[in-house]
Amino acid sequence: MRINYQRLIIVTLYAVLLSSCQNKTQPEQQLTKTELGKRLFFDVNLSLNRQQSCASCHNPSNGFIDSRQHKNGNRFATSRGTDNKSFGSRNAPTVAYAKFSPLFHKGHNTRFNSQQGDYFGYIGGQFLDGREQDLAGQAGGPPLNPIEMQMPNKKLVVTRIKASSYYRRSFQEFYGEKVFASTNQAYYAMTNAIATFEKSPLFSPFDSKYDRVLKGEDEFSFKELSGKSLFFSQQFTNCATCHQLRPNGYDKETFSNYEFHNIGVPANIKLEQLLGKPVNDQGLLDNPAVDDIKQKGKFRVPTLRNIAVTKPYMHNGVFKNLETVILFYDKYLIGSKNQINPETGLKWQNPEIAETLALKELKDGRKLKPIQVEQMVCFLRALTDKRYEHLIEEKGINCKD
Ligand code: HEC
Ligand code: HEC
Repeated sequence: MRINYQRLIIVTLYAVLLSSCQNKTQPEQQLTKTELGKRLFFDVNLSLNRQQSCASCHNPSNGFIDSRQHKNGNRFATSRGTDNKSFGSRNAPTVAYAKFSPLFHKGHNTRFNSQQGDYFGYIGGQFLDGREQDLAGQAGGPPLNPIEMQMPNKKLVVTRIKASSYYRRSFQEFYGEKVFASTNQAYYAMTNAIATFEKSPLFSPFDSKYDRVLKGEDEFSFKELSGKSLFFSQQFTNCATCHQLRPNGYDKETFSNYEFHNIGVPANIKLEQLLGKPVNDQGLLDNPAVDDIKQKGKFRVPTLRNIAVTKPYMHNGVFKNLETVILFYDKYLIGSKNQINPETGLKWQNPEIAETLALKELKDGRKLKPIQVEQMVCFLRALTDKRYEHLIEEKGINCKD
């Protein structure tokens, strides 16, 4: 048989062309739920005036917190809504490592490095008061929150989603052809896709200096190492009582055991002036599943990952520096000379809610020397994910020695 070379070449060229076209369209066809969730996380159309997305208050280039600033260069203590004028009363926590918070429940927690025994009480959930069980439940909140994204109802959110052919196609692909038949089903699909994105490795890389040292890829400086010993010590500090999830040296430490405590954070007067009203945050008691008055003013223990780049600190953003936080804890210890807030030059203010203080835990430890305060700061800086290390400010504490 004679081979028709001309024809063969044309057929081959055609096949090559076809496969390269397919390659181009493939990513679109094979989009994952994670990518869908990513688009939703950055999509301003989920807010009423199309000005705000999840990323506005959880900035991926800055530890997934709200890094926006006032004119004076200080970060907002709490977040501004999409209307550009309403402020909330809580400091936006990081979404990084948030997937590790267990479902909200009441139960027993085994502690490591604590002289205080184990814990029995509320644990986990999302939000500072644990009022949402998990990430998907949480993601349904902000679009409808009147001081956040301000959408009047789920129906309008779903209408906005349906307006995009990309969303229509991918929602149907992942959640079924009939996903738009019910508003609730489509809304649930949105929250599920966002939660899938939040559970992806982008949010929990575990590649800080702390993790690298554990893997033998890096070495601590003397200050960082001393800070680590202090942090995990039973005699010197109490940090690990609340900010340790697993036995020592275990990888994937999240630096929170997700218990709820009142550590006596004072009211943020500047925030109250901005809001024009006292805040008096009830913490855990704001959780609809909790009606026990003894839970008033308790907050879920936050992760300390990326803490050096996620100021301001505490549920109301009252402290600007990590050093201040360490001195604040020190004030509870016998003989401590740290009775002045270095940021105000005045005595520490009284706790916002005094009745439920975790005094047993807070009084357990020894007052720190100034060099030990620096060592603690250096250890906390070493918990910064690699991609945020350039954001660490030195502020007179050199951690290289
Ligand atoms: C206007 C700012 C703002 C916007 C927009 C916003 N958040 Fe938040 N986010 C917050 C604040 C403030 C909290 C803490 C609220 C509380 O505890 O009551 C929070 C809490 C969270 C938490 C809980 C973390 C934890 O440790 O408990 C997650 C997860 C989260 N947001 C994800 C999202 C997602 C997903 C979106 C978009 C659908 C979003 N946020 C939109 C400000 C915002
Ligand atoms: C009794 C439990 C407990 C102990 C002990 C404890 N913490 Fe905390 N920590 C918390 C809770 C709860 C919060 C959140 C409080 C709030 O927002 O009102 C917190 C907040 C923080 C914050 C601010 C986090 C943020 O994102 O704003 C830092 C930093 C911190 N702790 C470090 C430490 C260090 C360092 C120690 C040891 C010196 C320590 N903690 C001891 C429970 C504890």
